[in-house]
Amino acid sequence: MAVGLMDIKGQYAELQDRIEDAVLSVLRSGRVILGPNVKGFEDEAAAYLGTAGAVGVANGTDGLTIALRALGIGAGDEVITVPFTFYATPEAIAQAGARPVFVDILPDTLTMDPDAIEAAITPNTKAIMPVDLFGLPCEIDAIRKVADARGLPVIEDACQAWGATYDGRRAGSLGDLGVFSFFPTKNLGGFGDGGLVTGHDADVVQHARELRFHGSKDKKTFTHIGFNSRLDEVQAAILRIELGVIDEWNGRRALVAEWYDEYLPDEVVRPAVPDGLTHVYHLYVIRHPRRDDIAAACKERQVDCAAYYTTPMQLQPVFADMGHKPGDFPVTDEAAATNLALPMHPNLTEAQVKEVAAAVAAGLA
Ligand SMILES: Cc1ncc(COP(=O)(O)O)c(C=O)c1O
Repeated sequence: MAVGLMDIKGQYAELQDRIEDAVLSVLRSGRVILGPNVKGFEDEAAAYLGTAGAVGVANGTDGLTIALRALGIGAGDEVITVPFTFYATPEAIAQAGARPVFVDILPDTLTMDPDAIEAAITPNTKAIMPVDLFGLPCEIDAIRKVADARGLPVIEDACQAWGATYDGRRAGSLGDLGVFSFFPTKNLGGFGDGGLVTGHDADVVQHARELRFHGSKDKKTFTHIGFNSRLDEVQAAILRIELGVIDEWNGRRALVAEWYDEYLPDEVVRPAVPDGLTHVYHLYVIRHPRRDDIAAACKERQVDCAAYYTTPMQLQPVFADMGHKPGDFPVTDEAAATNLALPMHPNLTEAQVKEVAAAVAAGLA
């Protein structure tokens, strides 16, 4: 039987009655923009994450740009980030008017290498933007050490990591600001686009709040060039329901990961989870030099799989002016060439995981 990479329909079925009631009540209320559900979700999200506040925005990409702008980052500034991420991370930096500067990732976790940051800092560096890749928090303590020594803020791209923790602190609360995406495939996913900016400084959070509405506090006086980038009321109503089950869903993902760890062939590199961190397995990503053989065997057996960021950001045409070439970031290049995401969602069964593991083994036979 076919095994899908994700299962949006199955997750919907689990909450169908509650979601449909909530959506209908928004439609019937006539309050469809910045109504009580956006406010309610922002408060509940900030309480869950342990931040001073949270601001619902239209998507994660806008959230990253708004976070940068809320810190006053723009033209002429540089922001240090990783090349092994979705394009939205460096794109948002450029959208803010700044320049992304890439540093390599760690070979085990594939998140930002804290030891690589120092050499990338210039007088123009204004922030560091690590990514919680595939659902695993970045090495925030080591990153913060470098950032604090240089007085640089950290904006955490937590788009893939709702619910993950670092020494008991939630992903999205680890930097000065954090950003989430509620793209439908995310662990906490809407039924359309959505995003969130979180932060520890109430003034910066307020600035982000104004930026999402045309740079205005009161809709009459315009103090900044802002955005029209609001979390939709219908999405917020759905996300409030999902927030009540997300820890259970993430727990089920963790169990699926345990099955994979057990059943996959020994030679396959599994996702690393350092002590003190929890991984929420937005994606369960293995690595092997024969990635393409594994993918072919999976396809033959109707097992969905996908290689991510196969052309990493430093080699994308849009950043050609940076002059990067293969080998500049060897760990990134290796991850790009060897990674493969296997099916991962809360409804996978142990039998399905065994089927996937058998497909992986067949690819290596
Ligand atoms: C790491 C990362 N950053 C940013 C984004 C952008 O989020 P969105 O698609 O909601 O704009 C995504 C997801 O798509 C992502 O995975």
